[in-house]
Amino acid sequence: MAESRVPRVPLAPVGTGAPRVHIWQIGCQMNVADAATLAESCAEIGMRPGAPLEEADLAILVTCAIRQHAEDKAAGKLGELAGWKRQRPGRAIALTGCMAGEHGEGLLARFRQLDYVFDMRDTDGFFARLRDTYQGCLEGPVPMPASDRLCAYLPVILGCNEMCTYCIVPFVRGRESSRPGSEVVADAARLVEGGVREITLLGQNVNSYRDPESGKGLPGLLAAVDRVPGLSRLRFLTSHPRNATEDLLQAIATLPNLCENLYLPVQSGDDDCLRRMKREYRAAEYLRILERARELVPGIGLSTDIIVGFCGETEAEFQSTYRMLEEVEFDTVHVQAYSPRPGTAAHRRPDDVAPEVKSERLQRVLALQRQISERRNRTLIGQRVEILVEGVGEDGRCFGRTRQNRLGWLASPAAPGDLVRATVLGASAWQLQCA
Ligand code: SAH
Ligand code: SF4
Ligand code: F3S
Repeated sequence: MAESRVPRVPLAPVGTGAPRVHIWQIGCQMNVADAATLAESCAEIGMRPGAPLEEADLAILVTCAIRQHAEDKAAGKLGELAGWKRQRPGRAIALTGCMAGEHGEGLLARFRQLDYVFDMRDTDGFFARLRDTYQGCLEGPVPMPASDRLCAYLPVILGCNEMCTYCIVPFVRGRESSRPGSEVVADAARLVEGGVREITLLGQNVNSYRDPESGKGLPGLLAAVDRVPGLSRLRFLTSHPRNATEDLLQAIATLPNLCENLYLPVQSGDDDCLRRMKREYRAAEYLRILERARELVPGIGLSTDIIVGFCGETEAEFQSTYRMLEEVEFDTVHVQAYSPRPGTAAHRRPDDVAPEVKSERLQRVLALQRQISERRNRTLIGQRVEILVEGVGEDGRCFGRTRQNRLGWLASPAAPGDLVRATVLGASAWQLQCA
């Protein structure tokens, strides 16, 4: 194979100036946060992050393993990078994220073009090797390019202690570990000082957060971050229905900056299927949580995740999910076809829903949700919404998000960072037109 002729370590140091770094990332918000942390750490040791691939000396891939498709994408990227690496001596490729957690250093044998595999939970070794390799060309803390970020993700709990039978996350991200609340608040204040207006607290199971110092749960942390001066909006994701407590719903109802939004993945609306998934709640309990949320916070934005075609999912089971979606009328539904993941409990069961059935169920959910989202958005016509302006589109109009996380376009001029009150004039399934 051509890749096997690509020289490995030791790397030839690059010609002039500090090595430039290109970071490629897929997967969930946790990876977005990890990619930002890596860029900062690269700058701290004197490398230049934020380079386009053509100009870069080091490419770092932040990968995802949630479905086979995500792994295939990283493999495709590595294929492309083999050619990139051959174009200039001294180029190197590093890989981290959930595929590193899953396959570890075994990836070095599978992809000969790869130079480093490292775990995001322990990046010291990786950065020590970079310092070693590039010594002499590092510039010593490089200022990060001025950030125009208005919205930032802030991880507060790492890992997951649930054992949903289809899910690889607990294997690749490890056990739950909560960060001290004081550290989270300090990070939030630093982000706001740097221009961030909206912060989303992150965790795979964010509502299982427990401050190791005070013992307080997520509602306490939300209350503390909500008070950070200068912050306009606060969000959190992803929550497990098991930990969606009354206190949490009360926090959404009362904290001024915390947005009226709840992202609560249900996965299936059928009790047998939920049991096989080991989701630890029943459909009726889940519905009661949403009912209470809507009671306490009228107009709350509701989002969920659905897996179709899980092992043994019958048409009747799928129908239960479909009916739940019709009944609840979520604002957003993320639907995926089940993809068996090696090492998980469900991997030992036959993946017995045919690909065409999975894809048909997926399409049915998408079609239903399009109608629901459109209908729900249209009920907002004539109402006032608050939009945090995030940017300017190609046609010169500003766009941003409502507190319920709907995309809105503004007819009148505004600047990124502005909080604008506007009236909804038109609505489609995925966006609002406002003035
Ligand atoms: N911690 C979050 C979600 C983590 S993964 C939670 O518990 O809800 C994000 C989403 O990917 C999941 O909600 C699920 O819908 C989907 N997912 C996870 N494993 C999957 C698999 N093996 N096949 C298809 N979708 C999967
Ligand atoms: Fe995966 Fe379940 Fe943990 Fe979510 S709660 S990350 S689906 S194991
Ligand atoms: Fe993917 Fe890992 Fe997130 S598997 S979805 S990047 S936690």
